[in-house]
Amino acid sequence: MILLLLLLLLCFSSPPVKGGSFTRLGVNYGTLGDDLPSAARSVALLQSLGAGAVKIYDANPAILCALAGTGLRVSIMVPNEIVPSLGANASLADAWVADNLAPFYPAVRVRYVLVGNEILSDASLANSTWPFLVPAMANIHRALRARSVCDVKVGTTLAMDALATAFPPSAGAFRADIAGPVMRPLLDFLSRTRSYYFVDAYPYLAWASNPSSIRLDYALFAANSSLSYIDPGSNLTYTNLLDQMFDAVVAAMRRLGFGGVPIAVAETGWPNAGDLDQIGANVHNAATYNRNLARRMAVRPAAGTPARPGAAMPVFIFSLYNEDRKPGPGTERHWGLLSPDGKQVYEVDLSGRRPLESYPPLPPPENDVPYMGKIWCVLDAEGKATANTTAVGAALAYACGQGTGTCDAIRPGGPCYQPNTLVTHASYAFNSYWQQFRQAGGTCFFDGLAVQTKADPSYGSCKYPSLTK
Ligand SMILES: *[C@@H]1O[C@H](CO)[C@@H](O)[C@H](O)[C@H]1NC(C)=O
Ligand SMILES: *[C@@H]1O[C@H](CO)[C@@H](O)[C@H](O)[C@H]1NC(C)=O
Ligand SMILES: *[C@@H]1O[C@H](CO)[C@@H](O)[C@H](O)[C@H]1NC(C)=O
Ligand SMILES: *[C@@H]1O[C@H](CO)[C@@H](O)[C@H](O)[C@H]1NC(C)=O
Ligand SMILES: *[C@@H]1O[C@H](CO)[C@@H](O)[C@H](O)[C@H]1NC(C)=O
Repeated sequence: MILLLLLLLLCFSSPPVKGGSFTRLGVNYGTLGDDLPSAARSVALLQSLGAGAVKIYDANPAILCALAGTGLRVSIMVPNEIVPSLGANASLADAWVADNLAPFYPAVRVRYVLVGNEILSDASLANSTWPFLVPAMANIHRALRARSVCDVKVGTTLAMDALATAFPPSAGAFRADIAGPVMRPLLDFLSRTRSYYFVDAYPYLAWASNPSSIRLDYALFAANSSLSYIDPGSNLTYTNLLDQMFDAVVAAMRRLGFGGVPIAVAETGWPNAGDLDQIGANVHNAATYNRNLARRMAVRPAAGTPARPGAAMPVFIFSLYNEDRKPGPGTERHWGLLSPDGKQVYEVDLSGRRPLESYPPLPPPENDVPYMGKIWCVLDAEGKATANTTAVGAALAYACGQGTGTCDAIRPGGPCYQPNTLVTHASYAFNSYWQQFRQAGGTCFFDGLAVQTKADPSYGSCKYPSLTK
């Protein structure tokens, strides 16, 4: 209680910062990185970028405190783990609102409460959580209304994999496993409460998994009218991939009888770097995508999409920082507008007012075509995490525990046993693991201990295996 009062005092005693220019573009503020700037500095950075809104992945009180009085519109999130209990018990939803929103509202301009993050993409939650999603949203909605909070909309984020079909856009349809049991009641709720369908839409992911049939310019909004696609089912003309994705969602909603639910973009963006075996993730493309997105979203009246001309959409770019603790391929750690020291990875004016020609030249894209050479995965000798020998030992043990014969070569008598050091054994093990599992989605990460290299680490009779793509 005392802590709460203190927080309140802190929030309301900080001088209101001028709200900044009107803009619809928001930014996702994730915190899965080491040594990220403080909440207060992060909020100042958001404002300097020209962001009009911010989305966080929880209801972190320090961040909300820093947002008080800024005028930034704010989206907060209910964690996936508590969705079942909030759906089953309305008083727990009341308590969540009382604990997480009420202390900051209205000093913090909370506009959206998102209940769960991509819950319908996780099949392991099908029985435990999916049935409780809409009830949890309804309970949060009721709890807000009971407090006379009327300007906060309740939604949930959905990845594009909610659709079974997304091409051509007019054929958009939800997956059969969710269409009836979850999507229909969800859309009914969104429609009745005048909320949004919050989509996570990444042209990068669609393009990178199919670069031979999608033009990069088309994914980057850099196409001109000579590069367009006419949807045979609707005769609508598309000039970029993001519009196609939105209209696939529109078609899927229409199929269930809810063609009027507006779309908000919970996440979109482009990675500024990635692994050696990933394509198109570079500063040139990331800057191009986000600058073009900002320009488009600043157009008044709103451009909308071919199926919904003129429709305005809230949009949140992913993301504020490069977050080095996110697992997965290298792109996962490089979606940021800023590096962890707060510096811009490239210049971008999120208000969309800055003309594209006024930006300084970008470095040429280096990986727009796939790298076809050999790649190995080794211990990152320069990485700061490598100083932690406990962590290296644990990662080595993990790697050797996977697959068959993964570490035979570094056992006594094996060709890579000498030199018998943690560093060389870990390098061998990381590579051996990754070569076996990369095609099944295994990554060269090991909590930041591993790095890809084009230089063959083999020596003497110790041969490091490699795959050629
Ligand atoms: C709902 O949660 C409240 C608060 O924890 C608890 O007192 C109550 O027993 C719960 N109701 C049900 C039906 O579980
Ligand atoms: C969900 O329940 C069904 C029917 O009981 C079962 O077949 C399925 O394996 C369960 N799925 C998960 C992810 O637990
Ligand atoms: C449109 O873009 C294509 C491919 O980038 C280019 O070859 C063509 O000259 C452009 N046309 C116009 C009218 O700008
Ligand atoms: C698309 O245009 C063609 C040619 O004008 C027409 O035959 C067809 O019926 C149209 N399709 C739709 C879905 O409007
Ligand atoms: C070293 O790594 C271990 C295991 O990953 C971890 O528990 C520990 O906190 C790390 N120590 C330091 C100093 O980072």
